[in-house]
Amino acid sequence: MAGLGRNKVGMLSLLAAAFGLPRKFALCLSSSTASDGAIFFGDGPYEFRGTANLDASQGLTYTPLLVSPVSTAGVSSQGEKSVEYFIGVKSIRVNGKAVRLNATLLAIDEKTGIGGTKISTVDPYTKLQSSIYKAVTGAFAAALAQVPRVPPVAPFGLCFDASRVASTRVGPGVPQIDLVLQSESACWRIFGANSMVRASSKALCLAFVDGGATPTTSVVIGGHQLEENLLQFDLARSRLGFSSSLTLKQTTCANFNFASKL
Ligand SMILES: *[C@@H]1O[C@H](CO)[C@@H](O)[C@H](O)[C@H]1NC(C)=O
Repeated sequence: MAGLGRNKVGMLSLLAAAFGLPRKFALCLSSSTASDGAIFFGDGPYEFRGTANLDASQGLTYTPLLVSPVSTAGVSSQGEKSVEYFIGVKSIRVNGKAVRLNATLLAIDEKTGIGGTKISTVDPYTKLQSSIYKAVTGAFAAALAQVPRVPPVAPFGLCFDASRVASTRVGPGVPQIDLVLQSESACWRIFGANSMVRASSKALCLAFVDGGATPTTSVVIGGHQLEENLLQFDLARSRLGFSSSLTLKQTTCANFNFASKL
């Protein structure tokens, strides 16, 4: 286990001090239990085998990493800033259409640290504050109204008849979910492979869960939504670079080419 938080005793600070590596790392979680993903310390290029060798550090979309003024950790002292990674999600779209949300919940309150969006590999599925969850699942259900629903399988609340959903290169053919960041064009697009989970032989479920009415952080982006995406955390420049689904580029996190000479 390695702590990858933004603190002074984290692995990043230790590597930076010991080897003079830039305070930067990249994470690529595999969606397959049979293969490994990769984690890179320091700078790219990060080469992946695919139809062409791909340097996944190129062509990333960037968004500022935000610091929450209040620690969100289980154990912390008063006045301590959060060491977790927050990004500024401004709105959420389903199939290109903005979902009506309470924007206050998407911002981090400077005094209390409540609200906002963070990235967490601890949570298996993205957790949304209840009103956001209801709005997003409602919009998703409406956009996929042609597919019959089946009874939900816990912890999910919205499931569809798996046999009635087509497959695409980026997973089940379902409406795209966009997390819109600092501008309309800076958006984290979530395709079926990252938005859906096969919860039973019949049920294909939206892999988002209800985070309750008053969570500290309104949107917690979880592991399933991170799979097969390259995420580069650049602490020196306080920014996150993300690739969107590597499947679109015909490679996966398991295809990192450790043998390439760079
Ligand atoms: C939006 O959320 C904030 C923070 O939880 C809350 O105080 C406010 O009442 C909400 N507004 C609406 C219209 O629900």
